[in-house]
Amino acid sequence: METKNLITELPLNEIHCTDCVTGMQKIANDSIDLVVTSPPYDNLRDYNGYQFDFEHIAKEIFRVIKKGGVVVWVVGDKVKNGNRSLTSLKHALYFQEIGFNVHDIMIYEKKNTPFMRSNAYTNCYEFMFVFSKGSPTTFNPLKTKTIRQGKEKLVANKKADGINNKVWGELNSEKTLTNIWQYAVGLGGSTNDKIAFQHTAIFPEKLAKDHILSWTNEGDVVLDPMCGSGTTCKMAKAYKRNFIGFDISEEYVGIAKERIKILENQFLLDL
Ligand SMILES: C[S@@+](CC[C@H](N)C(=O)[O-])C[C@H]1O[C@@H](n2cnc3c(N)ncnc32)[C@H](O)[C@@H]1O
Repeated sequence: METKNLITELPLNEIHCTDCVTGMQKIANDSIDLVVTSPPYDNLRDYNGYQFDFEHIAKEIFRVIKKGGVVVWVVGDKVKNGNRSLTSLKHALYFQEIGFNVHDIMIYEKKNTPFMRSNAYTNCYEFMFVFSKGSPTTFNPLKTKTIRQGKEKLVANKKADGINNKVWGELNSEKTLTNIWQYAVGLGGSTNDKIAFQHTAIFPEKLAKDHILSWTNEGDVVLDPMCGSGTTCKMAKAYKRNFIGFDISEEYVGIAKERIKILENQFLLDL
């Protein structure tokens, strides 16, 4: 795969242990095709006590993303004293304020969620905000098989007299997915890499893969500024995209690098 030399200073296809604002300052303007990331919102989990400067991060993402590039921001809310934080929506409003289009608000539905609240329905989703800098340059819609296939009499022309002209037509064998995506989570769902679960908040490999295939082409550059266990980077590599991963935690960077190695070994086995 040809490596695009769009990025100053940093080598592509590596995970870097750094604060992501510092990391992104080493990336040229308008050079990244896609960001797929999940921030450490609402201190929901203990990320080794690291700081999270949301506004600064959002502005740097806006600077480095290409015109026509896309940012997938996977985020939920904490519930405190019976009150949802709405951090997810505040983030979205801020991204819009600094110039992004809110291209879509997608749902990441977890197939197997534990029961969590006694006085509300079990929360089984997070938002996947899809922000774009202008209209997305690339959209390769993922498809699913339709239930009914073959030939059927279809309405061809409804005239003013109200009479339907039906003609034989071929039903579409596939249709574009909706914007609610379901994934199994946990070992065997999110990933088969046991080491990934040393990180407390990974998203599924398939989620990253589906966005990468939707919004980029081979050879494009995918950034995860808070890459945790390296899910986005692993999927970018698996599908022949270039990647840059940042995480502030040495421990998580170690896990991410290990997962990239696991993938490289799989490539070797496949040869
Ligand atoms: C929700 S996790 C990401 C998990 C990742 N999507 C995965 O599948 O493994 C958020 C990550 O942000 C990292 N982080 C927090 N603040 C950061 C910062 N300022 N710069 C870079 N990474 C940061 C944390 O260490 C944590 O690994």
